[in-house]
Amino acid sequence: MLYLDHAATTPIRPEVVEAMAPYLGDRFGNPSGIHATARRAKNSIEEARERIAASIGAANPLEIVFTGGGTEADNLAVIGAAMAGPGGVVTTAVEHPAVLESARFLSRIGYEVTILPVDGEGRVAPDAVANAVGDGTAVVSVMTANNETGVIQSVAEVARLVRSSNDRTLIHTDAVQAFGSLPVDVSRDGTDLVSVSGHKIGGPQGVGFLHVRSGIQLEPVIYGGGQELGRRSGTHNVAAIVGLAVAVESTVAGRSNYRERVGAARDRFEHDLRSNVNVEVTTDDADRLVSHAHLRFPGIPAETLLVRLDFAGVAAAAGAACHSGAIQESHVLAAMGVGNTAASESVRFSFGRDDDAETGAKAARIVTGVVEDLS
Ligand SMILES: Cc1ncc(COP(=O)(O)O)c(C=O)c1O
Repeated sequence: MLYLDHAATTPIRPEVVEAMAPYLGDRFGNPSGIHATARRAKNSIEEARERIAASIGAANPLEIVFTGGGTEADNLAVIGAAMAGPGGVVTTAVEHPAVLESARFLSRIGYEVTILPVDGEGRVAPDAVANAVGDGTAVVSVMTANNETGVIQSVAEVARLVRSSNDRTLIHTDAVQAFGSLPVDVSRDGTDLVSVSGHKIGGPQGVGFLHVRSGIQLEPVIYGGGQELGRRSGTHNVAAIVGLAVAVESTVAGRSNYRERVGAARDRFEHDLRSNVNVEVTTDDADRLVSHAHLRFPGIPAETLLVRLDFAGVAAAAGAACHSGAIQESHVLAAMGVGNTAASESVRFSFGRDDDAETGAKAARIVTGVVEDLS
């Protein structure tokens, strides 16, 4: 099986499994307790927090809030900032549903929400973001890179311009897809809130974190025993948090190598396909993640292609597969102005850390065979 769906989830890293194993065995313990078993669990969490903070340039480990994944981190950032503001939200039409649906919830309960359009490559204009920010804007949310196309937004530029519009507005970025390949340094990037998810970077599913710059108050979205300084209640998933820290460190240590290998895989794949079949790269001109190949095969429905590819041993995705399982119309492609026919013929291949130019060539051979059969 050639697994080319790393944007949906990644295989867990062996060192992550190894680090987690004791916590699924005799290193149990609820970190909120007082006795030695509890304290040991608490120490493991605080060590994970320190290691993650150091990996992203955070000034203080307490700026890391552990969550149950990227979706929850996005909800906490957007809903938490708007409600604590209190104030409105400015975001873009291509965000992950974790952000868009949070914004829509806020709109339903009376908050002012602006969803900005994007250009044909899926990019929002940074000055349009700044222009949309008013006195009452609590938070701006612009993703670092898109999960479907891999297109990278100018978040640092957005942050700079928004600050000069309203320096009380918080800047959130969903870095869930980008974290595997792009450097994230919160002391340099100008962001206030950053979402990261474990399972996109070789960590476990169901765990992530939100970086919250010191001094920022968020209204929680989960209430209970007041864990995570009251910002996220609920007993910690100690094993997952320990695994997350290892995944973050391995990701950061391997990033430049990752970009080289994975970029070679993706580029070889696109190059070979272009030489052999009728294919269009959806966002050819945009700066995009090295992992993503978003391709259209004119005349071939994505669903048919995906089923045939699956038989041929290639796992790929169409539309926004990471949140439903069923193929549904992509709000990202619609926002980019991609027509219905083109959208229904588009497939996402996403490479991962074990891939290289050879994988790209092999994948292109299999995809070429299937496409020729269907043409
Ligand atoms: C950009 C982006 N944001 C958020 C999420 C949600 O993260 P999680 O699956 O950890 O809830 C995903 C993927 O599912 C994503 O690609």
